Amino acid sequence: MISAGEFVQKSLELHLFFLRIMKEHSFFLEAGFIPKDQALARTAEAFKNKFSQLLKQAVELANGNVSEKILRSGEVVTDNTIAAEEKTEELSGIDIDIELTRRELRLRSGRGNPSLETKVEQLNAAAIRETRALIDFKTLLLNRKLECSLFTWHFPLLIEHLLEEAEFYVEHLEKLQERIAPDPRQEIVGEKVFWDDIMGEHAQFISHLLDPTEKTLIAQADTFARVFARLKQQAQRFQRSCRTGRRLQGLVAEEMRATRSLRNFKSTGEELILACQVRSIIIPLLADHVLREANHFLNILEQFTDR
Ligand SMILES: [Fe+2]
Ligand SMILES: [Fe+2]
Repeated sequence: MISAGEFVQKSLELHLFFLRIMKEHSFFLEAGFIPKDQALARTAEAFKNKFSQLLKQAVELANGNVSEKILRSGEVVTDNTIAAEEKTEELSGIDIDIELTRRELRLRSGRGNPSLETKVEQLNAAAIRETRALIDFKTLLLNRKLECSLFTWHFPLLIEHLLEEAEFYVEHLEKLQERIAPDPRQEIVGEKVFWDDIMGEHAQFISHLLDPTEKTLIAQADTFARVFARLKQQAQRFQRSCRTGRRLQGLVAEEMRATRSLRNFKSTGEELILACQVRSIIIPLLADHVLREANHFLNILEQFTDR
């Protein structure tokens, strides 16, 4: 059982990362529809606005109640999030609440205040409800895409990927609502299996969204996809066996090297995209989004090794 203070802090830290992720998934979906499907685009826009509101509430509650490490990790906002949002808004013509990002950059750290427990519990419940609704919407889009009754500019694997991230967020929130104390060893392996898969898929998306002439970057992305497929297999083997802690430390160390390297590749990629130096169909906010997800995973790994 976790304390009220821990519950407040852990919930808000999770929201700062995942509510923005859900808001941006909604934006990516909204921007990917063709003119015929404007009703679906409006549904995606409504999700984007709803997650923006929830994130605003989370940011208000988080001020003074989340760790310095989270605020500095680059998983909440990066140095380039505002630039990516401005350029994406200019390119898409779709509104993005950039003031909210500025507000996040001004957040202060502190320990979770236990008196916020009820408010945070309500926010968690609202986030679970809204994310479940978004999961239903993503499932509908995926099914319609697979039966070829819908065209969007997103690969089916990308929609599946967005779906899995949303389910993972809900699972974490449900555990927090039950005040379940985490088991660090179990948890790190579970996180690793999940995020290895996500990192590998990011590398595959980057490879497929680059212009075919960008051969060097495509080859680098393909190498990352192979590395993370191998790391995921290792983690799954570890999950099935009852190996010792030392073996786990080795796996985490290897994972950190690979994730740092992928994070740097994504960060350079975002800089190049913002400077119009790379040929691709990667919208700048997507580049910033996948960078934040790598920073989030890295932060989980670092928290494990700092214990
Ligand atoms: Fe995502
Ligand atoms: Fe992702």
